[in-house]
Amino acid sequence: MKYYRIAVIPGDGIGKEITPEGVRLLEFAADVTGQFKIDWQEFPWGSGYYLEHGEMMPADGLDTLEQFDAIYFGAVGWPEVPDHITLWGLRLPICQGFEQYANVRPAVLLPGVRSPLRDQESGDIDFVVVRENTEGEYAGIGGRAHQKSGAEIAMETSIFTRKGVERVMRYAFGLAQSRGKKLSCVTKSNAQRYGFVLWDEVFKEVAAEFPEIETEKVLVDAMAAQFVLHPESLDVVVASNLHGDILTDLGGAIVGSLGMAPSGNINPERDYPSMFEPIHGSAPDIYGKSIANPYGMFLSGSMMLDFLGEKETARLIQSAANAATSKGILTPDVGGNMRTAQVTKGVLAKIREHADR
Ligand code: NAI
Ligand code: MG
Repeated sequence: MKYYRIAVIPGDGIGKEITPEGVRLLEFAADVTGQFKIDWQEFPWGSGYYLEHGEMMPADGLDTLEQFDAIYFGAVGWPEVPDHITLWGLRLPICQGFEQYANVRPAVLLPGVRSPLRDQESGDIDFVVVRENTEGEYAGIGGRAHQKSGAEIAMETSIFTRKGVERVMRYAFGLAQSRGKKLSCVTKSNAQRYGFVLWDEVFKEVAAEFPEIETEKVLVDAMAAQFVLHPESLDVVVASNLHGDILTDLGGAIVGSLGMAPSGNINPERDYPSMFEPIHGSAPDIYGKSIANPYGMFLSGSMMLDFLGEKETARLIQSAANAATSKGILTPDVGGNMRTAQVTKGVLAKIREHADR
């Protein structure tokens, strides 16, 4: 029997509500297919931990996580702690430290879920954004000086390295190749003359290795419009860290809710564990109401199993989720009236049904 060791970090807010549901679902699916077992270890890291210990995770947190096959992550961020501390104390050090340079974020409109876009139906929206996840605008280079004087200065520098751009482009082309269609490169090289010009040049160079893939280069502002006007024209989209961050919240919105959207922070070389999480944050506005949408968490779990090589169980979760949404097993953010745990129960039933077929 195959065993996987998975680190679980629920984090804050609704992360603490949906993560246990995701674990329950993956356990159930693993039991049903009987092909592997998961050894879970939970870590209480996040804002609560910070308020108690003065750090988001222990100093040797990455050494601890490195021993796992993957990380299943909820969300971090809480009003009592500044957001730059929570993000830079936990999620970004994991993504950067573990070279999870490809942040893969599918946007798929599931059956039974209504898009806010008038003319889009299930099947129309099905694309993936590959967001560069280790440098760009979130490289963390900068500083502040002359604070508390009228001459205060703050600098935030974007970093684009040939190595960093090339590896994410190559990953995105590989994904486009597996889906058989097209790769759209998001840029802002008209206004930003250095980093994004390198970005574009490397895109073109790598494109030469994949002559069968149709390509396009789209400025980020125009791409925002394209997400809304012609999402059906998109297949794989590669974007910088900031652009990908913003565009994928829009991607979540057009597939019905941020709560529907999964993601994987992938280290393609498998030198380190990859991390799987819904794209949304800790949603303090709905925390404690038991109405957080768990589908993003479930589908992130499916992506995690797929990455670990458990394709059949991954597909089973995917098809059970589709069957459940099409039957109206939904939380209020997508027009349903169910609570989080009721949705889980509904999806578990579909897993059972589909496995018996
Ligand atoms: P958010 O994604 O938490 O919430 C935005 C809106 O979407 C809210 O109205 C929320 O209720 C709704 N929403 C999000 N997930 C949902 C779900 N599963 N079901 C139903 N509704 C859902 O973003 P916001 O409010 O900007 O940030 C809140 C905190 O989360 C901040 O501290 C922020 O820094 C943090 N954050 C953390 C992320 C992470 O851990 N990966 C990502 C984004 C934000
Ligand atoms: Mg975001």
